[in-house]
Amino acid sequence: TVFRASTTAPVNIAVIKYWGKRDATLNLPTNSSLSVTLSQRSLRTVTTASCSASYPASEGDTLTLNGSLQDISSSKRTLACLASLRVLRNELESANPSLPALSTYPLRIVSENNFPTAAGLASSAAGFAALVRAIANLYELPQSPTELSRIARQGSGSACRSLQGGYVAWRSGTKEDGSDSIAEEIAPASHWPEMRALILVVSAEKKDVPSTEGMQTTVKTSPLFATRAERIVPGRMTAIETAIHNRDFPAFADLTMRDSNNFHACCLDSEPPIFYLNDVSRAAIRLVNDINHVAGKTVAAYTFDAGPNAVIYYLDDVSEIVAGTFKAILGEGLDGWEGPFGDRLKGVS
Ligand code: DP6
Repeated sequence: TVFRASTTAPVNIAVIKYWGKRDATLNLPTNSSLSVTLSQRSLRTVTTASCSASYPASEGDTLTLNGSLQDISSSKRTLACLASLRVLRNELESANPSLPALSTYPLRIVSENNFPTAAGLASSAAGFAALVRAIANLYELPQSPTELSRIARQGSGSACRSLQGGYVAWRSGTKEDGSDSIAEEIAPASHWPEMRALILVVSAEKKDVPSTEGMQTTVKTSPLFATRAERIVPGRMTAIETAIHNRDFPAFADLTMRDSNNFHACCLDSEPPIFYLNDVSRAAIRLVNDINHVAGKTVAAYTFDAGPNAVIYYLDDVSEIVAGTFKAILGEGLDGWEGPFGDRLKGVS
């Protein structure tokens, strides 16, 4: 018998950024962060997990990502997720001996992204969230998404925010064992149904400095970073939760843009400096400023992760203005883009 479960997980884009670890082994962040989960109609990872007593033990657990077999023997993060999930399954099996001993079978995990991997489009977030969810389903684990977020966090920090929809806060926690470093949904997507995200694929190439490495450099070398983590982010977390609660777009947008800029300022303040934004990214920033200026109020917000691609947040009533302006002015310079409803406008033809 082969036991099998499939699932999908969405991409999340932080509006208050996670950047910096207080514990690199347990993957605990220096500061809390908050993200918006994108619709699965646009970017997502699809993962199938299976296990069987008939899978050769000599092959061990395997992970195939976008058609190519990965070497997980050296991937501490993947191994940590698999080990934690097995412990939970084992607890179930001990409590109920009639259950098949799935925790002892080799696992086969097959995962596909419908977007460029490692291009700063949060592929690790959706990837590890889908891996954890698929195996949790396969193992019929009773744990809640928040409880599973502790496991996904070990795969990739941002992944802990992709197990739930809507607006998700990852509380940094203070405990050394990380047991209080968990993600929780602060509002479902239906709370603010007018929210839209436009993804500008400025470059689909792999990013220069992977986020794990970049954030370590920042923590070690940037004097600005301590101010960010201690004095800037805590207030912004509270303020953006209030903005989301009140559906106050200008406040949400202001905090989002400031936090993206502060994160990239910390990158620039690192030694050696880390550059994620390029000329097209900067043009996108200016265009958002121009759109807001012409509108006479804040109707659009930009944010950038560890790469040049922009995510633009806005509300549905200004879709034409925002998406239309971007397409007309920046369309030629992009590798592609994703519309707000998952309509792929790749190539901008
Ligand atoms: C800029 O979650 O990729 O996207 O925990 O080392 O895997 P690791 O880092 P990762 O970092 C994401 C950084 C960010 C900001 C964010 O998503 O909050």
